[in-house]
Amino acid sequence: MSAITEESGTPVRAVLVCPDDGLFQALRAARSAAPQFEIVEEISSYAEAAKHAERLARMDAALLDVGSDRTEALGLLRRLIEINPDFAVVGLNRSNDPETILQCLRAGAAEFLSSPFPPHDLRQAIQRIGRRRAAEVRPTALRRGKLLAFAPVKGGSGATTLAYTVAFQIQRETRQRVLLADLSLSAGVISFLLRLRTQYTLIDALRHSSQIDEALWKSLVTTHQGVDVLVAPERPEPALIEPYPVEAVLEFARSLYDWVIIDLETVCDALGLIAVNAADQINLVCSTAMPSLFLMRRTIPLLEEMGRSRDQIQVLVNRVDRRAELSIEDMEKIFRASVTATFPEDNSGVERALREGTVVADNSDLGKKTRQFVAELLGKKPKQAGGALGAFKSLLGGA
Ligand SMILES: Nc1ncnc2c1ncn2[C@@H]1O[C@H](COP(=O)(O)OP(=O)(O)OP(=O)(O)O)[C@@H](O)[C@H]1O
Ligand SMILES: [Mg+2]
Repeated sequence: MSAITEESGTPVRAVLVCPDDGLFQALRAARSAAPQFEIVEEISSYAEAAKHAERLARMDAALLDVGSDRTEALGLLRRLIEINPDFAVVGLNRSNDPETILQCLRAGAAEFLSSPFPPHDLRQAIQRIGRRRAAEVRPTALRRGKLLAFAPVKGGSGATTLAYTVAFQIQRETRQRVLLADLSLSAGVISFLLRLRTQYTLIDALRHSSQIDEALWKSLVTTHQGVDVLVAPERPEPALIEPYPVEAVLEFARSLYDWVIIDLETVCDALGLIAVNAADQINLVCSTAMPSLFLMRRTIPLLEEMGRSRDQIQVLVNRVDRRAELSIEDMEKIFRASVTATFPEDNSGVERALREGTVVADNSDLGKKTRQFVAELLGKKPKQAGGALGAFKSLLGGA
């Protein structure tokens, strides 16, 4: 059977790995409503699929039953992603169990579908896989903005403060198109920090992800001092069980902007995992408080397990006090990783921005340090000699 995706005009050739016969029958029944997947091979054992992993990972996608034997299935999933990091694996399960969804996403799955496989879900999944593939083959001349994620390892570390400060500084420095997206479903504060009044929010972007075009996008964002801002929902929303449109929304944003800066609540929930998977660079933010340092240590390996490399993970230590008891070297021992940058405790700079409903000023202690960070990010300034230790010394000496 030949099938055409709406996005790329080419068939999505998939292998189906499904030991569960009931699930297999349910998928077979549902596929008549959404025949876009061209299933070119059916395998009913994980071991058999593992033997052919090298070959299977070169197909367009895999539909993988993750319920029959979770450990085997996740092992196979990881192996396929290891061979081909862009491979689209769709986890299949009998139910929409959040724990299973999270485990699949952590292991690198692109999609998750549960029986009875509603036609709408199948169609959306195939569209997103089509978009993914289109993005892979898109000529480099087309815009594909850099996606930088900021996430606290522990609430209140200062990820939002750094994300919005950096976004505005990048725009001022480059004059390029910048999007700042508040991807916080329950506690987004960027609209409050900047006193933005908006009609639409992230939720509208997610709900209309399959229809988004440039005109619709313009009505979803608000421009503030040259930066487009997608704000978080006004009322806290429950965590997404089916978070996949996040990837589509981010992918669309990258086609419009040179820089997409996203502010996450955490990297550990479903939305955070998807966003982290899509990001070019993940800025993990901790404070110097012990629990925050401890969580930085725990979070770095989690991202590595998801296939993110060390050079994509930036370790940012915020609210470093001149009288800090721990040196950067001590922190690096705790993290078992280098510190990318430190940012000073700057109560007056932050409070002034809060009072005035604006961005942290460039001439504040924090503003100066984020400018330095942005200059390094833009390659305008060589990384500080001596790595993190040099950064710490420069901080002590006044950046
Ligand atoms: N370098 C700093 N100096 C002084 N105060 C800071 C600094 N960075 C952040 N803050 C303050 O710390 C608080 C938490 O910051 P922020 O909201 O940026 O953290 P977060 O990691 O995004 O937290 P959340 O878990 O709420 O998303 C805010 O009141 C902010 O103004
Ligand atoms: Mg925040």
